[in-house]
Amino acid sequence: MARRNKYAEDAKKGKLSKENLKEAIGLFKFILPYKVSFIIALLLLVLSSSIFLIFPDAAGEMSNIANGKGKWGLTLNQLGALLAVLLLSQSILSFIRILLFTRVSERGMADLRNQLFQKLITMPVPFFDERRVGELTSRITNDISILQSTFSITIAQFIRQFILFIGGIGFIFYKTPRLSLIMLATIPVVVLGAMVFGRFIRKIAKERQDKLASSNVIVDESLQSVHVVKAFTSEWLELKRYKQAIESVVNVSMRLAVWRGLFLVFVIFIMFGAIFFIIWMGAQMVQSGKMEVGDLTSFLLYTVFIAGAIASFGGVYEQLLTALGATERVREILKETTEPIDLSIAENQVKQLKGDIEFKQIQFSYPSRLDIEVLKGIDMKIAAGKKVALVGASGAGKSTIIQMLLHFYQPDQGEIFVDGQNISDYSLSEYRQNIGFVPQEVMLFGGTIRENIAYGKQGTSDKEVQAAAEKANAWEFISTFPEGLDTIVGDRGIKLSGGQRQRIAIARAILRDPAILLLDEATSSLDAESEKVVQDALNVLMEGRTSIIIAHRLATIKDVDCIYVLEHGKIIEQGSHAELSVKKDGAYSNLAKLQFELS
Ligand SMILES: Nc1ncnc2c1ncn2[C@@H]1O[C@H](COP(=O)(O)OP(=O)(O)OP(=O)(O)O)[C@@H](O)[C@H]1O
Ligand SMILES: [Mg+2]
Repeated sequence: MARRNKYAEDAKKGKLSKENLKEAIGLFKFILPYKVSFIIALLLLVLSSSIFLIFPDAAGEMSNIANGKGKWGLTLNQLGALLAVLLLSQSILSFIRILLFTRVSERGMADLRNQLFQKLITMPVPFFDERRVGELTSRITNDISILQSTFSITIAQFIRQFILFIGGIGFIFYKTPRLSLIMLATIPVVVLGAMVFGRFIRKIAKERQDKLASSNVIVDESLQSVHVVKAFTSEWLELKRYKQAIESVVNVSMRLAVWRGLFLVFVIFIMFGAIFFIIWMGAQMVQSGKMEVGDLTSFLLYTVFIAGAIASFGGVYEQLLTALGATERVREILKETTEPIDLSIAENQVKQLKGDIEFKQIQFSYPSRLDIEVLKGIDMKIAAGKKVALVGASGAGKSTIIQMLLHFYQPDQGEIFVDGQNISDYSLSEYRQNIGFVPQEVMLFGGTIRENIAYGKQGTSDKEVQAAAEKANAWEFISTFPEGLDTIVGDRGIKLSGGQRQRIAIARAILRDPAILLLDEATSSLDAESEKVVQDALNVLMEGRTSIIIAHRLATIKDVDCIYVLEHGKIIEQGSHAELSVKKDGAYSNLAKLQFELS
């Protein structure tokens, strides 16, 4: 619904300015590789539309021949045969043209889709902070579909109607100039009147649509929160709201009906009136011998062509404006600057890092919320192979530190070094290749368990995948599935529990074998047994790498080399579990006391 309104808006506010036309022409570059097909298709279109123009004249000529007044010097049978040949060639040309146009638009738009997706997927993380995913996907789906139908249908339709319009007018002026003048003075006025009428009616129809949509929102909301409605015994309130909404739908509908009725009156009286008026004039000319019956026939057929063309121009224009809106949204993305991602990383041998990490006075605010400083001077030094933990209240900045280390964002101040080199100086993909990340909420990709474990790594054998799954304590549940590693998970597959998903993510990280491991521990508590299983898996995973764990349960981090306690973007305490626990009134010992009291 919202989308549809947006397009309507585009069409409304859209103007054919120089700039957005230039933008639109920029998109032609995507059909450039298929220009030969496109040009042939255009030529075929011109040819078949021109042939089409002969038919009304031929129809008139037929009746003239029947009256013994033929002008082409053909017999009825000859003309019939000629028409059959024309029709056949017309059909063949149209068939080929449709295939060509489709080829051009489908291929061109497929290229555009690929390029757009490549652009999106290589955009830096802050880009996604400022946009809604649904809005981005709709550029690839809806916006490009609009462009596609513009290239495959609208342009062709416009050219065709334009030829019929010009050709039709040319024909009738050449053959029946007087009647044409009368026609030209009436039909366009009537068609334009009808268009204005039509637009007005569409506006009211849209208003009705909107009212209906808001009445649906009431149903949606009240059914979704039916528990609240019932608990508050406010069924009557919802009924009242709905009744009001429906009432206004009826009111708009009635207004719509009045205008529809008037439109019909207009059509009956004015439109058919004009047509009969012209026929009447023509009939008089035939009667007085100024015109042949056949000419009147072909004249009327041309008039139908011309009227149809005029009527179609409005729709074409609106469609083009909509396409311009879509073009703008697509081009907006194409113009963005991406991260320097190396797309051939999977095939390359990357440099192995050792995993020394140093944060030097890191200050940071998220680009989308510059007023709040999230990290206020973080200093950390973690030697290769050590395990450290970050603890602290929700919102203290723990996940942010991990995101900084993944180089999702640039620090405002300070530097991050890995193996003694500023992380900005590494090739981004090569650097990230050395990091394993187990996120707080594990989302699996739709596909098999094997694909999810081997994710992002090319050419892993089943054996390796199974070994990783075993180390992650995931094999025990995977092997109970009849399909094993081929079990489909994700949207259309089976649902895995939180702990199972986490173990898949751990297996994924084990298979990647990174120098640096980042773990954002899930807050949702697992039951004691699964927790132990996951914890064991993590311990295996952490062996021999620099690991940073964000821990919510202190019990899981007793053995780490150093614990950093964060508060409001600052490190307020650091040391081993033993060191921090003995600190009287220390932040960590207070936290620990609280947790052990609770448990
Ligand atoms: N993408 C973002 N854009 C803007 N602000 C953000 C973003 N992500 C986090 N923040 C803000 O940064 C601050 C630190 O968030 P962070 O996610 O690092 O906290 P955390 O310590 O991981 O908390 P939790 O324990 O709840 O996961 C919070 O105030 C949060 O609102
Ligand atoms: Mg967090």
